[in-house]
Amino acid sequence: MAVDPVVYGASERPPRGDYSRAQTDYTCPQHYAAYTDADHDTWRRLYERQAALVAGRACDVFIRALPSLGPSHHIPRFEQINERLYKATGWEIVGVPGLIPEVPFFTLLANRKFPVTDWIRKPEEFDYIVEPDVFHDLFGHVPLLFNPVFADHMQEYGKGGLKAHGLGACEFLARLYWYTIEFGLIRQEDGLRAFGAGILSSPGELRYAVESPEPRRLPLDIERVMRTRYKIDTFQQTYFVVDSFQELFEKTAPDFAPTYERVREMEEELAANAA
Ligand code: PHE
Ligand code: FE
Repeated sequence: MAVDPVVYGASERPPRGDYSRAQTDYTCPQHYAAYTDADHDTWRRLYERQAALVAGRACDVFIRALPSLGPSHHIPRFEQINERLYKATGWEIVGVPGLIPEVPFFTLLANRKFPVTDWIRKPEEFDYIVEPDVFHDLFGHVPLLFNPVFADHMQEYGKGGLKAHGLGACEFLARLYWYTIEFGLIRQEDGLRAFGAGILSSPGELRYAVESPEPRRLPLDIERVMRTRYKIDTFQQTYFVVDSFQELFEKTAPDFAPTYERVREMEEELAANAA
């Protein structure tokens, strides 16, 4: 095989994608001929269910860009999305067999390339899947890449990731990704809306994150985000809220090195006190 498969967190299951297809940068062509009629049908049903929920819950930027994914009745071809996406913001999507390691991931983002898993979940996983598949990656992440401010933010995140890797701080930066790009909320004039891909691609969490009285909703505070651990297998207990993508861009612009240091010290103290 060209590259090793990747697993994040503890898991009994081997990663699902076929990493022998990947090149050294972990990308691979979208294997379009491999999709079955059942796969296209899964896409169509996921899309229909989710599109019916976005009004009043997803942010306007997302809703306006969603048609740019193309017709909803079959899995989109990446190169067709790219014709529109590249014109809009200079971003491109590239196929990957599944999760990829930090450095190749950040490198792609820093070059305005967003990795999209090309396989789709099985019908028995219709409601819940742990690993990202093509539905999560395309439906959840790609519409916002049509927005110039968000698109620039994603590139800065990629560059910041390479820097965090050098500082041994990827774990803290990953929490920022989690609470913004995956699970972020935005306050529009007409109310609270979701912009995080993990929310936008989940029918249960889209309603919960925006409407439930249960979770905490805090204004975005970078250091607090970096101190907040997350769970990958339940709805979030805490969401962070921005007023605009410009706010997200500006709050993430300062040098994170001192923040990483403070968070690291705090975690070390906590660990020492627990021992
Ligand atoms: N400003 C961050 C740093 O100095 C980099 C970054 C930018 C990270 C945007 C995330 C998003 O490390
Ligand atoms: Fe994601």
